[in-house]
Amino acid sequence: MRNFDENNITEAVLERVQLAPSARMRDISTALVRHLHAFIREIEPTFEEWEAGIRFLTEVGKLCSDTRQEFILLSDTLGASMLVDAINHRLPKGATETTVLGPFYVENAPVRELGADISPGMAGEPLLVEGTVRAADGGPLPGAIVDVWHSDREGYYDVEHYDAGGEVAMRARFKADADGRFWFWTIVPNFYPIPHDGPVGRMIHAQGRHPYRPAHVHFMIAAPGFQTLVTHVFVEGDKYLDSDVVFGVKDSLVRKLERRSAAPVHGRRIDRDYAVLAYDFALAPAVVKQAVPA
Ligand code: BEZ
Ligand code: FE
Repeated sequence: MRNFDENNITEAVLERVQLAPSARMRDISTALVRHLHAFIREIEPTFEEWEAGIRFLTEVGKLCSDTRQEFILLSDTLGASMLVDAINHRLPKGATETTVLGPFYVENAPVRELGADISPGMAGEPLLVEGTVRAADGGPLPGAIVDVWHSDREGYYDVEHYDAGGEVAMRARFKADADGRFWFWTIVPNFYPIPHDGPVGRMIHAQGRHPYRPAHVHFMIAAPGFQTLVTHVFVEGDKYLDSDVVFGVKDSLVRKLERRSAAPVHGRRIDRDYAVLAYDFALAPAVVKQAVPA
């Protein structure tokens, strides 16, 4: 077939992609072509605009490295990451809600004892983080692995200082005790802008948006037989809770920082006033995969 024009090109491409041997690939390609062509028909781009779009995506790709993932930022800032997350986490009642992983997670963070200070010597208000891990439909999950990471009081993660000789801080893994409880010391995190010195930052700016995320602590919690929970706990009162640049805030994940006076706590003498962030997590049972018919 030939002589394609704006009236018949979509059908022609759709017909061609039906050759894909995989049914899933056929479905994905069909939807991609349908939506891409509808997008082009709607905006009727000039050649200059289409080239600018291609240049933009090229720059997004070129900026990706082991320490910077501009494509994830693009997905996050367009709400695509949260949509994929929502579709994949239709959780049972009582399970803790999920949110984006973000680009600052590091695998195999140091394993620390319960009660450890994961930000020793760092400037900031002392923060005790404490909570429990249990099954959404049942009791505590002893031994659950609680992986945490967060920003400093200026809004930077440790990884953002690695190139300048910075070390691991404000991140660790803990093993919940026999009652599913965990607790550790750190400093109060702050709101921060996502990396916005690249094409995604320029896009956000052109869209009239700010690049900020409200203050939060990230959690990834794993226990055998349960879906690994990826979420944050946000600090109540943060000015960016209703305009998070990656659309990650849910009411159920917001907690007030309780202020407490200096006193012995969890076996440690703390001689300054401190804040407490408490959250009880509930994990959903693992999804049983259906066998694919031959
Ligand atoms: C974060 O919370 O670490 C994050 C999430 C999405 C984009 C950038 C940062
Ligand atoms: Fe974060």
